Amino acid sequence: MRWIFLGPPGAGKGTQAARLAERAGVPQISTGDMLRAAVRAGTPLGLEAKRYMDAGQLVPDDVTIAIVRERLAQDDCRRGFLLDGFPRTVPQAEGLAGVLAELGVGLDGVLYFDVPDEVVVERLSGRRICPECQATYHVRFDPPREAGRCDRCGAALVQRHDDKEETVRERLAVYRRQTEPLVDYYRRAGLLKRVAADRPIDEVEAEIRRLTGVA
Ligand code: AP5
Repeated sequence: MRWIFLGPPGAGKGTQAARLAERAGVPQISTGDMLRAAVRAGTPLGLEAKRYMDAGQLVPDDVTIAIVRERLAQDDCRRGFLLDGFPRTVPQAEGLAGVLAELGVGLDGVLYFDVPDEVVVERLSGRRICPECQATYHVRFDPPREAGRCDRCGAALVQRHDDKEETVRERLAVYRRQTEPLVDYYRRAGLLKRVAADRPIDEVEAEIRRLTGVA
């Protein structure tokens, strides 16, 4: 079970990766979550990454390839993994191919989350996250039971710094320029499967389970 979740910001990659990872019993590996954890911990990596993240830019390839290489070498990845938000550039995809070759494993496929820009803006402007346990909600599409409070741990929900409208527009532009070429890259490799992600969360999940063969 080794899949990449690829698509624009706010397409629902994290929401679906969390569901599928739990069902399949493999780790969800989100470079965004790992970088945000480094920012919260105030490590040198976090301090460097924060500048890029707050501006809606990508963190340099050598940094993200190094953290993914280290993570994939851990024991819990032996049975598989879901890569959420990595790779995001052609050099990252090439770096990943090298890491997988070192580990002697291959990919099952790449799920491409296809959604229009206006849906992205609507989803990100309504997204709320838990600063304690990192659970994700949406004020309209996936609200917590009690408004503004995390279902899991009760903490007050917050908006992500990079979900401000001007940063979202920049993230979308960066996606088109640097990440969208990967759609063709993986199509040519015969690995790409498209998900129409502009549908309710449960419908998208059912489609992903069908495509990945997770019961
Ligand atoms: P990252 O955290 O990876 O952000 P992203 O790719 O921009 O993706 P998002 O987390 O914004 O969206 P998502 O697709 O996971 O959507 P979600 O499920 O939350 O990266 C952040 C930053 O870190 C980057 O800008 C960059 O600086 C850096 N970075 C990370 N990885 C990097 C890399 N590899 N290289 C370089 N830099 C890197 O859903 C969004 C909202 O919609 C939620 O509120 C959710 O509840 C709701 N929702 C989800 N699905 C549906 C649905 N079907 N219908 C209605 N609402 C839905």
